[in-house]
Amino acid sequence: MIVLGVSGNPTENSNTDALVNAILDATGAETEFVKLSEINVGPCIACMKCVCTNECVLNDHFRWLSKKVMEADAIVVGSPTYYGAASAFTKAFIERLYSKRHVKLLTGGKIAATVAVGVAAEKMVSEWMGNALRAGGMEIVGSMTAKGTPCCFVCGPGESCHYTVWNAYSKELTGMDFGVGEAYKEYLEILPDNKPYAHGSARFLKSYRSVKDEPEVMAEAQRIGELIRKRIESSSTKAGDLKCRC
Ligand SMILES: Cc1cc2nc3c(=O)[nH]c(=O)nc-3n(C[C@H](O)[C@H](O)[C@H](O)COP(=O)(O)O)c2cc1C
Repeated sequence: MIVLGVSGNPTENSNTDALVNAILDATGAETEFVKLSEINVGPCIACMKCVCTNECVLNDHFRWLSKKVMEADAIVVGSPTYYGAASAFTKAFIERLYSKRHVKLLTGGKIAATVAVGVAAEKMVSEWMGNALRAGGMEIVGSMTAKGTPCCFVCGPGESCHYTVWNAYSKELTGMDFGVGEAYKEYLEILPDNKPYAHGSARFLKSYRSVKDEPEVMAEAQRIGELIRKRIESSSTKAGDLKCRC
């Protein structure tokens, strides 16, 4: 039983990596963790040369990584939220899985789980990753989101800025409730002179937010890992069966 974790977060000790690894550990299986920023996987160039062969012709580390995906009984894909979307590393990896879809749908039936970390828009990322992997015929057995560290907390220039992330996702500007105020109330005190996109003003109470300090978030990762294990055990499709269809 092999479970592959793929993280599209480029920073060290990220929440995304921590959650992908927590899920891997909870499977109790043989696991491998790949950090996309440490290898070279570029975007799909839509050359369509993979249509008949199910092999991408681009010469980068996807050749190696795609073999690992195909050998794995399950994959766990994690991404941070950048500009309301998955990171470019994650997007490139998922685009390249396109090569496995044509005619034979080689990733069909593969078990998968997703992790998205963000300040506000992580649910959109989670939804997109789930849909993209499902388009490759994968079965999403778990999909989790978590609140991470707002970039403003660690940017350096202080606590007053016109373009604060909490204002960018405020109800006043978006008309939507992304749960930012509630999620960060212990981290941030918005001061009375704060006016979205006119004058951002707050006091930071805590800076870095680590999912490892949040037992319910870590418990969800544990639950998904255990679910993956059970699903692999009960699955009639084995990694070898998928290979035989080539
Ligand atoms: C370039 C960049 C863009 C970001 N854009 C968004 C965004 O649009 N929505 C959001 O919810 N968070 C955004 N963030 C915040 C990250 O999602 C947040 O810091 C998250 O915790 C990163 O994941 P990590 O904790 O695993 O490092 C952005 C951060 C960076 C560096």
